[in-house]
Amino acid sequence: MPNAKIIGSGSYLPSKIVTNFDLQKIVDTSDEWIFERTGIKCRHIANDNELTSDMGYEASIEAIRDSSIDKNEIDMIVVATTTPDRTFPSTATIIQNKLGIQENCFAFDVQAVCSGFIYALNIANNFIKSGQVKTALVIGADTMSRIVDWTDRNTCVLFGDGAGAVIVRATDEDCGILNCKLHSDGQYFNILNTTGGVSSTKDSGFVYMEGKEVFKLAINKMASCVIENLNECGLTESDVDLLIPHQANKRIIDGVGKKLNLKMDKIVLTIEEQANTSAASIPLAMNYAIKNNMIKKNNIIVLEALGGGLTWGSIIIKW
Ligand code: ACO
Repeated sequence: MPNAKIIGSGSYLPSKIVTNFDLQKIVDTSDEWIFERTGIKCRHIANDNELTSDMGYEASIEAIRDSSIDKNEIDMIVVATTTPDRTFPSTATIIQNKLGIQENCFAFDVQAVCSGFIYALNIANNFIKSGQVKTALVIGADTMSRIVDWTDRNTCVLFGDGAGAVIVRATDEDCGILNCKLHSDGQYFNILNTTGGVSSTKDSGFVYMEGKEVFKLAINKMASCVIENLNECGLTESDVDLLIPHQANKRIIDGVGKKLNLKMDKIVLTIEEQANTSAASIPLAMNYAIKNNMIKKNNIIVLEALGGGLTWGSIIIKW
């Protein structure tokens, strides 16, 4: 069976930056509260004419260039998103068209909210290991600003927009994705959801979150998922060279890091400048780590996320 190796990455962040001070002007909040409770200072917000597929396309172009492949070598495109351009077709097929890749490639979306990139990368890994796909483009892209209620201070201060992408390819080398763990538990519907949807209210609704409840579950579930995953690989926490966590809250990231006994220099942080970009946060953080030379060959890299559903998961990579 081949291994699935990440051979290129790309990112895109909208040019418009909204600071905590800007938010003070629209809701009853403060830079101090937001930074202390979340670690966020600012976020990128898409312009009105900038869609999820536009951001995913830009990130993909960079990932394709970075991997030095021809775009027509891509067999499969998977997009993790909660904020598609349209109810249908999938954002993945829209990006396929923008990239000018035709029928020898198939494309589809995955919906697992903030865990979406973990789910999408796991799917790409399975397709590659089975031999059905040699080269996959995996994208996490979200325009959360479109489903945030900008009058709700509990949620609007937390999110940002962006996209990240990776090219994953079959290899015979002794490296790549070692193991993936996915979990979900639908009983937690009530603590993290949108207030509407196509078949219920005929619109997308707005983000609703019981932050304290999600917070408590997030640390425990992500830490135990990583430990479970490391154990299955015959590894321990001390083998981890770099943790690339979902960027929902700096205090959650600190809590997971503590449970895994990881020093802060082994954890990638982008939350201060980017906030929670949902499915985009892990590929954006991975791209940041690559560009800042934080990842070396043969390093053990751990990805982890938790989001609406609840869904959660982790992936271990030997780089
Ligand atoms: N500015 C000022 N005050 C605020 C704000 C704000 N923006 N938001 C809430 N408050 C107030 C609350 O009203 C509350 O006031 P009260 O004590 O008078 O009732 C007080 O601050 C404390 O609120 P808490 O909710 O208890 O604050 P907490 O410390 O839990 O932090 C936060 C809130 C940041 C939302 C945190 O709970 C969190 O990060 N939760 C998890 C987020 C997460 O992981 N989400 C998963 C992914 S998202 C997805 O999948 C779509």
